[in-house]
Amino acid sequence: MNERESILSLREQLHRHNYNYYVLNAPVISDKEFDEMMQLLQTLEERHPDMADPNSPTQRVGSDLNDEFQTVPHRRPMLSLANTYNLEEVREFYQRVSDGLNGQTFQVCAELKYDGLSISLHYKQGQLVQAVTRGDGVQGDDVTANVRTIRSIPLVLDSSRGEIPEEFEIRGEVLMPWQSFERLNAERQEAGEDLFANPRNAASGTLKNKDPKVVSRRGLDAYLYYLLGEDIPATGHYENMESARSWGFQVSRDMKLCNTLEELWEYINYWDVHRKELPVATDGIVIKVNSLAQQKALGMTAKSPRWAIAYKFQAEQASTILREVTFQVGRTGVVTPVANMDSVLLSGTMVHRATLHNADVMDTLDLHIGDHVLIEKGGEIIPKIVGKDAGYYDNNMGGKIDFINRCPVCGTPLVRAQEEASHYCPNDLHCAPQIIGRLEHFVSRKAMNINLVGPELIQQYYRNGMLHDVSDFYRITHDKKVADSVARSVDVPFERVLFALGIRFVGEIAAKTLARKFKNIDSLMSATAEQLLETDGIGKVIAESLINYFASEENRALIERLKEAGLQFTLSEEQLSAHSTTLQGQSIVISGVFAHHSRDEYKRIIEQHGGKNVGSISGKTSFILAGDNMGPSKLEKAEKLGVRIVSEDEFLAMIGQE
Ligand code: IVH
Repeated sequence: MNERESILSLREQLHRHNYNYYVLNAPVISDKEFDEMMQLLQTLEERHPDMADPNSPTQRVGSDLNDEFQTVPHRRPMLSLANTYNLEEVREFYQRVSDGLNGQTFQVCAELKYDGLSISLHYKQGQLVQAVTRGDGVQGDDVTANVRTIRSIPLVLDSSRGEIPEEFEIRGEVLMPWQSFERLNAERQEAGEDLFANPRNAASGTLKNKDPKVVSRRGLDAYLYYLLGEDIPATGHYENMESARSWGFQVSRDMKLCNTLEELWEYINYWDVHRKELPVATDGIVIKVNSLAQQKALGMTAKSPRWAIAYKFQAEQASTILREVTFQVGRTGVVTPVANMDSVLLSGTMVHRATLHNADVMDTLDLHIGDHVLIEKGGEIIPKIVGKDAGYYDNNMGGKIDFINRCPVCGTPLVRAQEEASHYCPNDLHCAPQIIGRLEHFVSRKAMNINLVGPELIQQYYRNGMLHDVSDFYRITHDKKVADSVARSVDVPFERVLFALGIRFVGEIAAKTLARKFKNIDSLMSATAEQLLETDGIGKVIAESLINYFASEENRALIERLKEAGLQFTLSEEQLSAHSTTLQGQSIVISGVFAHHSRDEYKRIIEQHGGKNVGSISGKTSFILAGDNMGPSKLEKAEKLGVRIVSEDEFLAMIGQE
């Protein structure tokens, strides 16, 4: 076998081992052997760059940095299902189906409802060409680069197991298994980053991450549950899913064809209990009429098919006794009430604290010390109190618990945020948890990324009187390593510096928008409310917060000190020369002859809109700007890689020059 043949053979073997490992959970070779084969393939591919293939198993690690996601239309709309929360409604659904089919016999397929985010995968000639999120059901985000890193999603299908349609879509759920979720949150806690509330949020945050390498590390998984296409193999949903499984997809084995309502009850009752043993989160059961012909006959309503329904499980609850409510002050001064209760077992973990969110929630619950309360996890890691456990005579006998009027740390009277349920402590400059919170936020990864300074060091420096505000970081000299780590942060771009300041309501996205619009801190500081409000995505709340922040002498002095320390308070030259960000992060190939501008002009236009003009088509290409007479080899390559082709007129519309 020559090297070129070895590449093909290794790819095929590795795809199979991936499937054995990630889908079947039954590897037939050791991890070491797998790694060795992968290494070998990598070496051979480097030697034969012309054989590069985005679907090679080596590409799973995620190699390209794609900045923003492109919104693309779904080939077929992505519908959602009607939800029910009780069995009576399931019975009614069953009856409606029976009536709709004029009494014909029918089977329903019962399956687990996976709690992640839905994805549509498009395959052509046995290869994954595109992966799109649900979006609004009509169009979604193209997350192909990220999805390619999910090991249980086959990049190339196994054609030895029955005929595979030339073109089809398969839909399913991207999930973060409990194990990966717990590991990720433990890492985030260590790094002082916000935790994900549940695996669904973690999966969705991960899939929208801009760096496929990060996605690759986070251990996402996927279950597929719906096959669509012109020539799919069978006339029944269940049978189609079995075929899909044989092509290499992870299709749940916990699906059941039911002939009667009784069989369906059995399935529901079984999984209501046993779902807790599954490695991934589920939140209900999906019931689908199995025959595709019957599905068609039943049709759909405006929003969802008449042939399917989702039955949602009741969240697990536990009863315990409320002992005390404490109040926490966060970085922006918001005060959160926390219930402290007797420890109780809930969904496998011992729980003794629950969030009460805000004063309104507390009022509604009407809590008293010693009340028997019901807590629920509803898919969140932090449990919440949903009400009182009725039937205890001693409820409401202890002292009534009210929200506080003064900051529990510094004693300043609290202010209720306008049009919001939260209360906050306005003493932002001198209230310890707010100062510490701001210091922690400043060094965090998405802000200044000063990675040698963690929460413990900050606590210690703050207690020693070394840190009063974020400018003090730049005065640290006694620890060379820390000082170096701080010094490196002066290169962090303006938009992140703005985010790092921790201005109330100014998150990452708002900071980016403001930096691009006002270009430097001086014009932002002198902007009027009207000017701020003219900015896309900046509303009253953010505008007001900015005005208040910059009105403070202390904040202005702080910004002066940070300027002296050398931080970036102006957009870089590069960012300044880009007119817009419409094409930010996109790699665009220009091909063919154009009517409105020359190729050189298009090159400049792409750069002015923040995009990059690249020479050759690869898996990383965002799209091809195609004029007349685009070369056939380019066309073929684009088709093979599933790269979108954009006409001159479409492109001009895209950048607003119709
Ligand atoms: S079928 C037209 N099956 O639940 C049928 N959906 O609103 C389309 N989901 O958006 C969906 N597990 O994200 C189907 N076994 C399953 C599912 C499932 C989870 C999600 C899916 C969909 C939502 C229903």
